[in-house]
Amino acid sequence: MISIESVKNEYKNDIKNSLDIDKIESKYLSRKGYIAQLFKSIKDMSDDKKSKYGQQLNKLKEDIENYIVKNKLSKDIQDNIEINPVNSVDISNQLGSLSPISRLIFKIQDIFAELGFSVAIGPELESEKYNFDLLNIPDNHPARDVWDTMWVQSPDGIKSLLRTHTSPVQIRYMENHKPPIRIIAPGKVYRYEATDATHETVFHQVEGLFLDEQASIATFKGVIEYFFKELFKQDIKIRLRPSYFPFTEPSFEIDIRIDNKWLEIAGAGMVNRKVLENGGIKDKNIQGFAFGFGVERLAMIIYKIDDIRLIHSADIRFASQLGKIKL
Ligand code: FA5
Repeated sequence: MISIESVKNEYKNDIKNSLDIDKIESKYLSRKGYIAQLFKSIKDMSDDKKSKYGQQLNKLKEDIENYIVKNKLSKDIQDNIEINPVNSVDISNQLGSLSPISRLIFKIQDIFAELGFSVAIGPELESEKYNFDLLNIPDNHPARDVWDTMWVQSPDGIKSLLRTHTSPVQIRYMENHKPPIRIIAPGKVYRYEATDATHETVFHQVEGLFLDEQASIATFKGVIEYFFKELFKQDIKIRLRPSYFPFTEPSFEIDIRIDNKWLEIAGAGMVNRKVLENGGIKDKNIQGFAFGFGVERLAMIIYKIDDIRLIHSADIRFASQLGKIKL
């Protein structure tokens, strides 16, 4: 025969011997466990005995339940959370601050503001139409493969995507504004591709769009050179490489020389006439250029980071170190 006393002693022993928490739960609290068995004997007791016995039994049951809840929680945490070195850093008295990428984006916005550019934004969840079609990249166009896409299927069957670049903001802006246009559009972009030291799956771009009656390749070069001079505050070697984007003609890639290697920083070019028309601009006198910078790539140069994956590693020590670098 078991009694409250004998069960209590056994329970104490099990805790002392660190019996597995799931075993304790089934041994004491399951439908046929000790506590249930003890409750069964209540019905044969006299009324005054019942109440005292009930109180003691409830107290024991509560103790066991509390012990189990507390220890299950810490077991779950131990099983599921990998203790990472950041957790060992005391952050209790540190103030929050902007991430190094946000700081850089604000700096870029400031530089372009001096040249009369304002800021536009667009959605990260985009349609195929804006991310591809209206940018002169129809279905089955080989250039679609360049941007490995993360597709999103909503419950009503509509297929969307996570934008692969900030260029769709060009079209969205043209649809609602008349030239002259001078905007930059910063934001997150997504690509379904393997990461390495210079490639992330989620990163930031700053798109630029400059349209008016006089905008030429010379204007484009002037703007880009001014931007780099202001950003780096030192001479830096830049290379314009001929390239191909369906939405610009001619197209370029902009590289920067760093540690004796060229790092690709941006795609750019004169906006393709078809794209202007898709954006609702019919006036043939309007022309201009567009560009798309990789913000993390710029951050790698400014903050001297040799692996892009460190930037979003969420290591507070890393972020606060970069926070001290003046832009
Ligand atoms: C584009 O995304 C074009 N939309 C850029 C453009 C805009 C061209 C306007 C013409 C006119 P691209 O895929 O090359 O192009 O990406 C632009 C920049 O983003 C690259 O130069 C690079 O700096 C950065 N980038 C590209 N892929 C990655 C990646 N996986 N991780 C980090 N940065 C990347």
